[in-house]
Amino acid sequence: MMRCDRTVAWTALQGHFEAHGRELDLREAFARDPARFDAFALQAPEVFADLSKNRWDLATRRLLVELARECGLEARRDAMLAGEPINTTEGRAVLHTALRAPRGQGPFSDDVHGVLDAMLGFAEGIRDTAASGIRDVVNIGIGGSDLGPQMVVPALDAFAQRGLRCHFVSNVDGHDITPVLRGLDPATTLFIIASKTFTTQETMANAAVAREWFLAQGGTDIGRHFVGATTNLKAAAAFGIHTTFGFWDWVGGRYSLWSAIGLPIAIAIGADNFRAMLDGAHAMDRHFAEAPLEANLPVQLGLLDVWYRNFHRFTSRSVAPYHQGLKRLPAYLQQLEMESNGKCVDLDGEPLALGTSPVVWGEPGTNGQHAYFQMLHQGTDVIPVEFIAVKHPTHPYLGLHAKALANCLAQSQALMLGKTTEAALGEKAPTASQQLDALTVARHRSFPGNRPSTTLLLDKLTPRALGALIAMYEHRVFTSGAVWGINSFDQWGVELGKALASDLLPRLDPGPQRGATAGLDASTAGLLRRLTE
Ligand code: F6P
Repeated sequence: MMRCDRTVAWTALQGHFEAHGRELDLREAFARDPARFDAFALQAPEVFADLSKNRWDLATRRLLVELARECGLEARRDAMLAGEPINTTEGRAVLHTALRAPRGQGPFSDDVHGVLDAMLGFAEGIRDTAASGIRDVVNIGIGGSDLGPQMVVPALDAFAQRGLRCHFVSNVDGHDITPVLRGLDPATTLFIIASKTFTTQETMANAAVAREWFLAQGGTDIGRHFVGATTNLKAAAAFGIHTTFGFWDWVGGRYSLWSAIGLPIAIAIGADNFRAMLDGAHAMDRHFAEAPLEANLPVQLGLLDVWYRNFHRFTSRSVAPYHQGLKRLPAYLQQLEMESNGKCVDLDGEPLALGTSPVVWGEPGTNGQHAYFQMLHQGTDVIPVEFIAVKHPTHPYLGLHAKALANCLAQSQALMLGKTTEAALGEKAPTASQQLDALTVARHRSFPGNRPSTTLLLDKLTPRALGALIAMYEHRVFTSGAVWGINSFDQWGVELGKALASDLLPRLDPGPQRGATAGLDASTAGLLRRLTE
């Protein structure tokens, strides 16, 4: 693969940025081109995107597509879809797309559909609460074994079974599991121990606490009340779990909600809805595999990310879903994007002289408007914002829905349009101090504008639409990672902290080594003393 910063297109993009990119003004661009909205509109399965309020033009887009071609994006995409071991540092294929391929169509189809059928059958059995006796489902997992289901279950609340509650415990901090257990009855609770490796410290510790609690509360039949979603069936059996739903090393943790890790989702929304979610993701997979790069939504978003990160040098992107059900989407995207593309060496291990993953962060609208949007509008950094709006709500309060949509559109408008000091001078400002002169007040009340945003529209937040949306994000992360020439599918960066925590644990646990500071840096030693004395 050609390193992006050594391509002809990269050099051309640098020249284009200096000549037309840095100073591009969105207000002027719209005034010049009445067809700009249409030129930058893209319809993918279930997701419409307005990319016109971004600081790029048609030439930028053309050069970015050339960059993608020069970097071998299509070949790398095809290699992923064909099951080649593109996760080179772990020698693994990357085949989350196989998890949503229709029966008989993708790689490992018999294995995939065998587990899927078994998992969905089990989920339906639990949903029959009269027969199963289960009222509460507790998923114990972390990272990719938590964030996907924790995001999807509330997002699809309108499709969820009533009378069956889903809880999520991830943090090794006991303040997470304690309030969850407080409200539960062991006789009516199912624990899902979700861990690809079945070795993750947090999950194993919480699973042990749950088992202890279950027995202490008079629970009987661990085999019926604890099930596992894992690739490590042996370790699950050693824990005492006999019902396990397996998956494979070619499913990355942050790409695993389509596998057995999706069990809480399947229990919440049922087999048909789970299959609809897979179907939506598969439709997006086809789009990613087949649409020309110019009309390929994940590709366009990934290339825009490269443009912003490496040319405009924006360091973060804010996600603002105007749908409360998507409240956990920013957290989910943080792992998807930052664990995938937060890398500083290329596939050959050579240091990269360019920025990679942006910081991804956000909150649902309109809550964010009353918190950090001030900074987006008037702060000194430019932060591209991604708005997500849904045309039809699944609640009956149409007045509330109109307000949510009006706010969503207004924010992207305000970011782009801004307000000049002259315009502010012409307005009344009844709440401003009378002690200040009008010009000073107007300067405080003006907005620079020209702040970029993307708006994604869904018709309705159905299982199919959500499946397509998530798959779109997966392929977008793939695109920018492929252009940067990095391995988006390993996560060595989490290992150092794990090793150091193992070293520190005996120094904090009650025992002979408690408080020992030998070999520690002065700061860590000082903190340890304060925590143990
Ligand atoms: O944080 C590192 C990580 O390996 C993630 O990639 C993964 O999603 C998470 O830990 C949980 O891992 P497991 O499913 O093996 O418990």
